[in-house]
Parts: sequence; structure tokens; C-alpha cells
Amino acid sequence: MNREIKLAEDDLIVSKTDLKGTITYCNRTFMRISGYSSPELLGQPHNIVRHPDTPRGMFKLLWDTIQQGREYHGFVKNMNRDNDIYWCFCTVMPNYTATQELHGYFSVQRQARPEALDSMKEIYRQMITIEQRNNSAGAPAASLQWLTEYLADRQVEYDPFIIHLQKGEQ
Ligand SMILES: Cc1cc2nc3c(=O)[nH]c(=O)nc-3n(C[C@H](O)[C@H](O)[C@H](O)COP(=O)(O)O)c2cc1C
Repeated sequence: MNREIKLAEDDLIVSKTDLKGTITYCNRTFMRISGYSSPELLGQPHNIVRHPDTPRGMFKLLWDTIQQGREYHGFVKNMNRDNDIYWCFCTVMPNYTATQELHGYFSVQRQARPEALDSMKEIYRQMITIEQRNNSAGAPAASLQWLTEYLADRQVEYDPFIIHLQKGEQ
């Protein structure tokens, strides 16, 4: 069993990538939590901290969203250098130059609300099961389709659903 690292309330993991998801900037909190130094992170794909319990469908949603120039919010389970895991609530957004050219993406990850994770873990388990049943290439779209139907049944869209989970009752 992997150990779990709990982010503190004021921990903010910040990273930047190029257009393909190669890390171009990491802050100290990212280094501390991931266990990697900056030379080990810079130039690496952001999947360096990927944990297989985060469904591929969620990364499809992330990339579809940011490539349309919008902000993505979501929960992600990551794995550090020592195979310890940590959950985050992440916001990923397009990163523009002063002349408004898209030159990469920017991510801020913070502590996930524990009650939100109870729901998300179950949703991710369902999505992974669907991905395992499907052929590899179609798996992300299939699990994302299930999530779309899950949300439609509850008459809610992804962004309000996910933000409400993280913020809790107002
Ligand atoms: C700015 C930014 C931050 C990202 N942060 C993470 C992250 O913390 N964990 C993660 O697994 N993937 C993250 N990704 C997505 C990865 O680029 C990648 O799509 C994902 O890990 C799936 O990789 P795979 O398809 O090689 O399995 C991030 C992408 C961007 C653009």
C-alpha cells in the first residue's frame, strides 16, 4: 500500500508546461511534495507524477478543455518519486504571452476537500472499470461518456459539480 501525503491548507503546487505538457517551471512545493529536484522535473512530461487511479478520461477532459482556451478544474491522484500518493484539486489554464500568443499551460494544485474525495474516488473507480472493459484507444472517450451521463442524470454540468464538491456547502 502506498503512503498518502496530505497537502497542508496553504500548500500550493505550481507548474507550467509547454503546449505538449513538458514541464517548464516548478515551484518549491511541487519539488517538496513530488520528491524531485527542479533539474529532474524540468524538461519532463507532466505525467512524471501520474498515478493509474486517475482515469484516462479525466486527462482527455483536461486537454480538450485547455486546448479550447478554457480553464480546467478537477481532482487528481498523483504519485511521487517514492511511490507515495497525494490527492489535489487542480486548476489548469492556458498561459499566454504579452502578445496574446498561447505558449503553454499553467497549473495550481491545492489540498482536496476530504469529503469531495469520497465522491470522486467512487466516480474514478467506475470510470477505470469502464476503461478496462474498452479497447485501449476508445477507453478515455468511453469513461468520459459515462461521466457525462452520470452528471446529466443529476442535471448538473461538470464545472459547477466539481467546484461545489471542492468548496462544500455554502
Ligand atoms: C499544466 C499541466 C499540469 C498537469 N498536471 C498533471 C498532474 O499533476 N498529474 C498528472 O497525472 N497529469 C498532469 N497533467 C496531464 C499530463 O500532461 C498527462 O496528460 C497525464 O498525466 C496523462 O499522461 P499519459 O497519457 O501519458 O498517461 C498536466 C498537464 C498540464 C498541461
